[in-house]
Amino acid sequence: MTKIIAVANHKGGSGKTTTTYYLGLALAASGRNTLLIDFDDQATLTNKLYKAWTPGQTTIADVLDGMALATALCQYDVGLQYVPADHRLAWIAARMQASSPNHAFLRRAWQRANMQPEYVLIDCPPSAGVLLINALALADWVLIPATPTEESYAGVLRMQAMIQEIACTLNHPVKPLGIMATMVSPSSISEQKYLNLMGEMEIGRVPRRVGQTADAELRSTYAEVAKTVIRILESER
Ligand SMILES: Nc1ncnc2c1ncn2[C@@H]1O[C@H](COP(=O)(O)OP(=O)(O)O)[C@@H](O)[C@H]1O
Ligand SMILES: [Mg+2]
Repeated sequence: MTKIIAVANHKGGSGKTTTTYYLGLALAASGRNTLLIDFDDQATLTNKLYKAWTPGQTTIADVLDGMALATALCQYDVGLQYVPADHRLAWIAARMQASSPNHAFLRRAWQRANMQPEYVLIDCPPSAGVLLINALALADWVLIPATPTEESYAGVLRMQAMIQEIACTLNHPVKPLGIMATMVSPSSISEQKYLNLMGEMEIGRVPRRVGQTADAELRSTYAEVAKTVIRILESER
């Protein structure tokens, strides 16, 4: 059965897109057929993934507007596909906001697509608006990337409240998968306080990596995170 994970935190710059990208690569490298959905109108994930920009490429904005999801699929690697985003997602979101109910646009698009990848990762936008609600209304799980800082940890608490709210108001049991501690500098004392607060909700830790070796180091760190995610989700009945 497909496992759908929303990668979400209200705080921008908490590592959502980086986590979606490297976790997606790692799941695909572990033989799991994986689909990434860029659900942020800033299209940071799309810009990371596009091998060649195609003018007029169908994006998630068109899919929310009624086009088939299959028309927006792009192949990135073996076992790894993605649905790109562009700035028009903000316009569609404004239209979605005005309709009622407005939480099930993505869910309906997904049901119409009739696809069965093993994993779907949704790279969520930083705002708590209609796009995030649509992502949570489809997802089975929420992975919360957070830097060990006050603002990012506040985003974790707001996400946890929102998960409960979605469960109650939409009767949709989206579950917290855990917190990814991102951009951690092990020597920092102030960071330790927030790592302690994350406690047993922390399912992985990514050091701050810069420079020429960053890509290789992030790949190997997220490969370990993927093992944890696979262990948790594939031992689930
Ligand atoms: N482990 C890391 N080490 C160093 N820089 C990182 C790391 N993870 C993310 N970054 C950088 O931090 C910035 C914000 O990350 P991003 O994943 O785009 O966050 P978000 O999607 O939550 O806004 C980006 O410039 C990204 O390259
Ligand atoms: Mg992002």
